[in-house]
Amino acid sequence: MWNPVTHRSLALLSALLCALPGNLLAQATPNQATNQATNQATILIATDEPTKTCDPMIYGGFIEHLGKQIYGGFFEPGSPLADEHGFRLDVIEAVKELKVPVIRWPGGCFVDSYHWKKGVGPDRQPYDDDRWGVLEPNTFGTHEFIELCRRVGAEPYICQNSLASIEEMADWVAYCNATTGELAEMRKRNGHAEPFDVKFWSVGNEKGGKGYIDKVRDTAAAMKEVDPNILVTCSGSHGPRAYIDPYLFQTAGPYLDLLSVHEYWIPNFQQHQTPDYLACLMLSEKPDAHISAVVQSIDKAKMRERIKIAFDEWNLRSWHHPGFSGHHPRKVDYQDPEIIALIKDRDKSLEPSLYTMADALFCASFFNACLRHAEDVTMANVACLVNQTGPLYVHPGGIVKRTHFHTMAMYANLLQANVARTEVDSDRLTHGESSVAMVDAIATVDESGEKWSVAIMNRHPSQEVTCTLKMGDSPVDGTYRATVLTGDSPDAYNDIEHPNRVVPQEMMLTFKDGRTSLPPHSLVIIDGRLNP
Ligand code: AHR
Repeated sequence: MWNPVTHRSLALLSALLCALPGNLLAQATPNQATNQATNQATILIATDEPTKTCDPMIYGGFIEHLGKQIYGGFFEPGSPLADEHGFRLDVIEAVKELKVPVIRWPGGCFVDSYHWKKGVGPDRQPYDDDRWGVLEPNTFGTHEFIELCRRVGAEPYICQNSLASIEEMADWVAYCNATTGELAEMRKRNGHAEPFDVKFWSVGNEKGGKGYIDKVRDTAAAMKEVDPNILVTCSGSHGPRAYIDPYLFQTAGPYLDLLSVHEYWIPNFQQHQTPDYLACLMLSEKPDAHISAVVQSIDKAKMRERIKIAFDEWNLRSWHHPGFSGHHPRKVDYQDPEIIALIKDRDKSLEPSLYTMADALFCASFFNACLRHAEDVTMANVACLVNQTGPLYVHPGGIVKRTHFHTMAMYANLLQANVARTEVDSDRLTHGESSVAMVDAIATVDESGEKWSVAIMNRHPSQEVTCTLKMGDSPVDGTYRATVLTGDSPDAYNDIEHPNRVVPQEMMLTFKDGRTSLPPHSLVIIDGRLNP
């Protein structure tokens, strides 16, 4: 069981270990996961090579009208924690800590039945959401979404219903961005004189095939005619197969700025699974391989300069919606006990105990992959931002910051603007037939080239790793400020009763001849002027 004293002891123990020559504790403890005597890793930061610019848009979020993301998440009119417009102020304050730069909305599969005009103006009509089988109250529409984005400081990113007409899609752009004309007047009548200036637009969610691709070309052209300053994306790949149809590049390529990629590495859509820490960690290297495969497709089409990747739905675990795929309309009888049970079953994703150090470290692995591919990945959106599998759990009485909330906050707030090539030579962590590097790291540096922030994770469930950090050929020496995220066990999680079991702690980390010790199942970000 967690207690703060245990955590303080852990921090003290870590600090103590740093002062020791080598990793004495690891040598004395049998290594169950690797059968080696000591755990070692060397991290080499290439200090004399050009760096890549990190796009902060990779710390974006996605919210869909599914489960308790919008209603009962960000938006809960009547709640004592909401303002007079229905926005949950505690949720907005917490999301601001993540510096979320962009939010994608309204779906997801939900968007396939969404007609934006019904979600603006005073006469909002509830309707049957035939993708997810619930009644959509339609009280959260375009104006509420833009207001939410403004409050958290994020760019709005709207995903269009590609099953709707091209005219309907182009009209949504005009409604949001035009200064004159019928649609601009409609927006003004609905209470917003100034354009919303929505820059990011997607033509549809998780679609493919010739008909769709032709429509992407025509819609992108029509939307850009309305506003030439927008950036357009469309479905590139979803699911484990990172392959992109070459016809997409040939046909719609010249109109696209980004390509949407989706993947959830534990597919809980129908069957809810709860793999243990090590099984989750064995998935850590998959995002990197996935991104490389997408880059290869874009490269083959010779479009790498023009088209960037928006990894606009990603998470370790997918959400759970048994009986509904979301991709096919399904009329439901709300009174049917089977339907009631299926909808209730979706709440399995909300269970706080699911989100452990595995989620925190997977999230760091995902960001490392994006940063390593910084020239190609210019946006990513955690799916989802709030409730279900997201970093923030929202309940009627408050919020809980899950473990991956803290990873996101650490990356968004502590890393520097440029990423340096970072080579990691690490022992492997094995589990059954699988293995991943025990240590992963990414080094970032500010514009002056002086201030470094290095994120290092030890994936081992129970043992420290002796880690050697080198700037070029020179081992780092000295004591640096470090922010450490870990828990009293790899399965540690935060919940309503214990919201602070896993929270970042500040400590000083000492390197001697380049060597330091990292606590088990931890993410450490050190910052400062790293001295050889
Ligand atoms: O499980 C939710 C769905 O996952 C989203 O609606 C869709 O975009 C993705 O397949």
